[in-house]
Amino acid sequence: MFLNSANSGLIQLTDQEFKELVNFVHTKYGINLIKKRVLIEGRLSQTLRQKGLTSFRQYIDLLEADRTGTEMTHFLNKITTNHSYFARENEHFEYLSDTVLPYMERTRHNYDLRIWSAGCSAGQEAYNMAMTIDQYFGLHKSRWDTTILATDISMDVLQRAKKAIYPASNLTNISALWKQKYFHSLGNGTYQVCDKIRKEVVFKPLNLMEPFHFVKPFDIIFCRNVMIYFDAPTTDQLIQKFYDVTAPGGYLFIGHSEVINKEATKYHYIRPAIYQRKE
Ligand SMILES: C[S@@+](CC[C@H](N)C(=O)[O-])C[C@H]1O[C@@H](n2cnc3c(N)ncnc32)[C@H](O)[C@@H]1O
Repeated sequence: MFLNSANSGLIQLTDQEFKELVNFVHTKYGINLIKKRVLIEGRLSQTLRQKGLTSFRQYIDLLEADRTGTEMTHFLNKITTNHSYFARENEHFEYLSDTVLPYMERTRHNYDLRIWSAGCSAGQEAYNMAMTIDQYFGLHKSRWDTTILATDISMDVLQRAKKAIYPASNLTNISALWKQKYFHSLGNGTYQVCDKIRKEVVFKPLNLMEPFHFVKPFDIIFCRNVMIYFDAPTTDQLIQKFYDVTAPGGYLFIGHSEVINKEATKYHYIRPAIYQRKE
């Protein structure tokens, strides 16, 4: 009963429309939609109806003609999963604190750390890094510039990230101490990250498929649970691009369910989901 009524409004993709959409999104964003036909029909049919469109052909034309990027942003918001939470794959933050930051403290004599959260979703990962750094350096933090660049293609998540307000369910893995130290309760089941930590993160839109134009290389890159969308050649190319913008001795963290082709990469494998560019 539920399924029938939910499906009754579905607008279906023709084989040709599906192929075109898959190619377009893969070329522009690296995202592989080949197994997502039902997901696209399910998540986009309502959008099409709201726009008075009766076919995906009309929708693809609209996407291709849109110079503002608004339509594409809406489309990407619908098809990508932005799920994230604090202390996700927390071993990474522990490794950051126990190994990476002590190493950086010993080797970066200009007190400047370049840090990037690539595919940051609503900011949990980047703020988590800022909290880890604050905790590690303590009173010496003011001596260091550890501003974190956090980027995503989805404007929706970037807007949420800047507000830094999260439901309590996002903080389940955060200790009571950190909750008190780095968040304040807004009283309606939501928490906001404190100003001191918010100031440490700069959010910007960035499509990982486009060429990178960074002035200085990064010491620490987190790109976790983003490459799950990409096929193997796209992932290999992206890893090479990350490598090219990693400083000697710099680290790359990926998601535990993601794999790097160890034969193809110049990164040195440290442990699952952690890589380092040799000094
Ligand atoms: C599941 S979230 C991961 C968030 C966080 N890194 C974590 O591990 O919790 C994946 C994010 O990757 C972003 N993304 C997907 N393709 C992208 C691309 N081509 N360029 C930049 N961001 C992309 C999505 O918008 C989404 O916010």
